[in-house]
Amino acid sequence: MTTINAHGGTLINLYAEGDALLQEKEKAQSNRSWDLTQRQMFDVELLLNGAFSPLTGYLNQADYDSVVDNIRLADGTLWPMPINLDISQAFADDTSIGDEITLRDPEGVVIANLLVTDIWTPDKEREAENVFGTTDTTHPGVRILLNENHPVYVGGTLTGVTPPLHYDFSQYRNSPAEMRQGFADKGWKNVIAFQTRNPIHKAHVIMMKRLMARNQANLVIHTAVGRTKPGDIDHFCRVRCYEKILPHFPADSVDIRLLPLAMRMGGPREALWHALIRQNFGFTHFIVGRDHAGPGRNNLGGLFYGATEAQELVSSLQDELNIQILKAPFLRYVEGRGEFCEEHELLSGEAGLYISGAELKHMLCHGEDIPEWFAFPEVVQELNRTLPPRSKQGITLFFTGLSGSGKSTLANGVMVKLRELGGRHVSLLDGDVVRKNLSSELTFSKEHRDLNIQRIGYVASEISKNGGIAICAPIAPYATTRRAVRSLIEEVGVFVEIHVATPIEVCEARDRKGLYAMARDGKIKGFTGIDDPYDEPENPELRIDTSQHTMTDAVDLVIERLREMKLIG
Ligand code: PPS
Repeated sequence: MTTINAHGGTLINLYAEGDALLQEKEKAQSNRSWDLTQRQMFDVELLLNGAFSPLTGYLNQADYDSVVDNIRLADGTLWPMPINLDISQAFADDTSIGDEITLRDPEGVVIANLLVTDIWTPDKEREAENVFGTTDTTHPGVRILLNENHPVYVGGTLTGVTPPLHYDFSQYRNSPAEMRQGFADKGWKNVIAFQTRNPIHKAHVIMMKRLMARNQANLVIHTAVGRTKPGDIDHFCRVRCYEKILPHFPADSVDIRLLPLAMRMGGPREALWHALIRQNFGFTHFIVGRDHAGPGRNNLGGLFYGATEAQELVSSLQDELNIQILKAPFLRYVEGRGEFCEEHELLSGEAGLYISGAELKHMLCHGEDIPEWFAFPEVVQELNRTLPPRSKQGITLFFTGLSGSGKSTLANGVMVKLRELGGRHVSLLDGDVVRKNLSSELTFSKEHRDLNIQRIGYVASEISKNGGIAICAPIAPYATTRRAVRSLIEEVGVFVEIHVATPIEVCEARDRKGLYAMARDGKIKGFTGIDDPYDEPENPELRIDTSQHTMTDAVDLVIERLREMKLIG
């Protein structure tokens, strides 16, 4: 076995066995149940198998406060990420300290029992500010925290009943104890963990080889396959890519393993969390990359964290870690020499070439050739299988605007035009039609409007995932809900927001359904634009005022924009 201690000294295993397991199963039959969300499933799996050692459940309030404020548990142990079960207010109202709750997976399988020790409503803005350094919801972790997570937190101890089941890549999934045993069986003494949520290319392989040689170590591509950054290439494709690069290493020196981690994209704090998790898995070394767990650009187009901030934070805490932190050297390709160089190896005047993950995705989507110096052809081939050029990808055209703005007419015109062009299946999810079929029980309260848009988003994402075009034309008045739909779609295809920006005076003058008149008379309450808000889209892909164009011209503008975006040929 590797001798590296788990964080806090003991590798935790929360699963009950034997008679204790039978008792837990029996208790589950009478406990109240909480159905875990997909994200909560990832957290619970890593709590139960000890990947989050020394945690034995969800943080109590004192530990939570201490983690948020000081990156440490209340007893001083380093721990950077709040891990809590977030529950709805309605469920919280029926829950008391001392209760036991059964946690089930989305199919109803009993995963664990939770003894509630604390229950409170957190100040999420403070959590966002302290943990992520921002409350800007363009940060994916902040968006989930503020807009997606339930409002009440529970702390308490867990007892595991059934490990979450995965059907994919089971040969690459190990608990920390199994991973440690695996290293011992292979006689691997020094083992580097390489955390990644991206495909691996030539520069990465060279970087890994250099670090392996410098540390006389084996290496595991320990890839995050829980929730990663919206828009990332899915893990099915990534793992197939990793399999393709193994032959570029000496035989049996490198392995692949999957880590079902719900990443928060929390930069420096997340890098520390990743290191502690790897220590628990028995790794001796951990590579912290540039812009590690970076969340992308903020709402002003800048970066949330400095490129080396994560490396600096984790290295500064090296004394408190058993795992050795390795800073990933930044390699660039020098054409004149035909080789990759680290920054300090560049001669003056030598400019190295580099292609970022986002640039690569852009090139693949636009059907551009990927240079040989950058990627292995077999990896590019695999990526092309999953990421077809934009002209073949699924799309959601999301028309948003006031009632009477012309959304439905425009959406219908665009649908017909796209059918005329052919090549993809087109489905229309018009606001009124959805209200009649999918959302007939919903009102126009904020909560119900959000639910309506979430349903439309879900259906559209299924259509886009399968390569079709979903055309949506609801009012969708709230920016946060539209943003959530955008990120859902961007995981599977292309999202095109079209703001039908016809001024309210024109919409009201048209009043084809007589609804504005009724709203002015107070016969309809909460009418968008009259006594309910409409958040103007800030950065739509296209804005059209239908009072300034004929409908035929407006349809052409949309088609033209889709051509410009290379979405249609
Ligand atoms: S939302 O907010 O996106 O869920 O609204 P949506 O489902 O698109 O609305 C569909 C149609 O409902 C009519 N209607 C109202 N609109 C706004 N506010 C209130 N209170 C309301 N009550 C009924 C309205 O005609 C919407 O259709 P369009 O095609 O936009 O006119």
